[in-house]
Amino acid sequence: MKRIYTIVVVIMLGSLSLMAQEPGAKQDQKPTKNDPPPPIKVITLERKEPVNYEKEIAPILGNKCEVCHSSSLQEGKLDVTDPEALKKGGKSGPAIVPGQPDASLLVKLAGRTGTPAMPPKDDEPLTPEELALIKLWIAEGAKGQKVVETNLPSLKLGKLPARVKPIGAVALSADKSKLAVGQGANLFLYEAATGKLLHALSNPQLKDGDDQPLNQAQTDLVQALVFSPDGLQLYSGDFRQVHVWDAANGQWQRSLTGLMDRVMAMDISPDGKRLAVVGGIPSAEGEIKVFDLTSGNVLTDIQAGHTDVVYGVRFSPDGTKLASASADKLVRTFALPEGQLLKTFEGHTGQVLDVAWKADGKVIVSVGADNVVKVWSFESGDQIRTIGGHSRQITRLQVIGAKPEIATACGDAWVRFWNMDNGGHIRNFGGNADFLYALTVSADGTVVATGGQEGVVRVYNGANGQVTQTITPGK
Ligand code: HEC
Repeated sequence: MKRIYTIVVVIMLGSLSLMAQEPGAKQDQKPTKNDPPPPIKVITLERKEPVNYEKEIAPILGNKCEVCHSSSLQEGKLDVTDPEALKKGGKSGPAIVPGQPDASLLVKLAGRTGTPAMPPKDDEPLTPEELALIKLWIAEGAKGQKVVETNLPSLKLGKLPARVKPIGAVALSADKSKLAVGQGANLFLYEAATGKLLHALSNPQLKDGDDQPLNQAQTDLVQALVFSPDGLQLYSGDFRQVHVWDAANGQWQRSLTGLMDRVMAMDISPDGKRLAVVGGIPSAEGEIKVFDLTSGNVLTDIQAGHTDVVYGVRFSPDGTKLASASADKLVRTFALPEGQLLKTFEGHTGQVLDVAWKADGKVIVSVGADNVVKVWSFESGDQIRTIGGHSRQITRLQVIGAKPEIATACGDAWVRFWNMDNGGHIRNFGGNADFLYALTVSADGTVVATGGQEGVVRVYNGANGQVTQTITPGK
């Protein structure tokens, strides 16, 4: 079965329904591109054998829906990768009603007798055969179980759909000269002071199904980016691998492999010799690996560290420990190099999306889908304080150098500076139109960059909150 997009796309979970609206959708007499598309033709299938979910239905949903409705990116809060999740449905209630195809929301939207049409208009609709098959499957009781890929198939991926243009990660080099931007599966290097494009990165290994070069940096969305402390290398997280780039000329150098799924976050040790990489398989297993950057070997593989995807990781300031943040709602710390569990920090009521250490190594900060920042004592494991003031999930967090200050990037489209010692609010960074996924702040706090669903990177003066550059990659 050819699953092109199934493995490709993921933004951080729960981006909600923040797809860009078409501007100027005015009421017009003439048919315009804003008119709903016509219904899919209804046909009847002649067949005796029952519909097989795994072989017949999962591939259709995988190809045409999963790019926006997986366990990781749930538009309309809907996950199409599991029949049980479909029965539960999304924010409008059950997507399928077993035995009643015509009463099923999924059939109405994908059959285009209801709105909004699914998939949205620019994407390829279901064929009449596919729609009929899905209806028959629902009529037969919508049986079947989530398909779990156990083997690691060799992947040949197509291009991401053109509309998937969110900024998934940004990183500043330590000397503040370079800004790396991950947009979709593409990577760009800019001169930070001017916003001038230095390099659009292209991975020579990536070919499409016809063996043509893809001219993109990765197969999957870039969600993790980190420079080496000396600024010579850039590391980018892909699906099951990390790419190493020459930050001076933008050339691909090598890839670190052997990861189980998408890379959600990375951190480089203070001495620049080790790279911590995290991710995992939703609702099953978290992955935490530490690579030796000289040999490319895995030094530490923390198995069973978390029971769900790990979204954030940071080395302690002295490089002897790791802190991790996971969808299992926990923050944990581990000793290196063996990876023994040191402490578990329990208190977030939703997925924990990022974690960081205060420069003295005594305090841990975490943020998550429960819209709060939590400050913890590493010594005692106790919560010191909770900082509110965010109206959506907080996706990224950074401690600013040796200061007691932190920066947060939030789904409510704001970047904010806070004082972690007293919970005080310091400054806001605005102008963004949509959900933020990416954040980088220089160690002295003077340069801040963010981006997200809007597909635009904004660079700010950290001292006064003014926008200094607005970068639209690919333009
Ligand atoms: C390009 C992204 C995209 C693709 C592809 C896509 N959807 Fe959606 N879907 C959305 C968005 C965005 C929403 C939320 C719309 C809203 O709330 O107005 C949504 C909402 C839905 C809902 C309603 C969920 C709820 O409870 O409100 C259903 C059902 C649905 N989609 C089914 C499908 C099916 C079936 C497919 C494939 C045939 C599909 N979608 C493909 C983006 C997508």
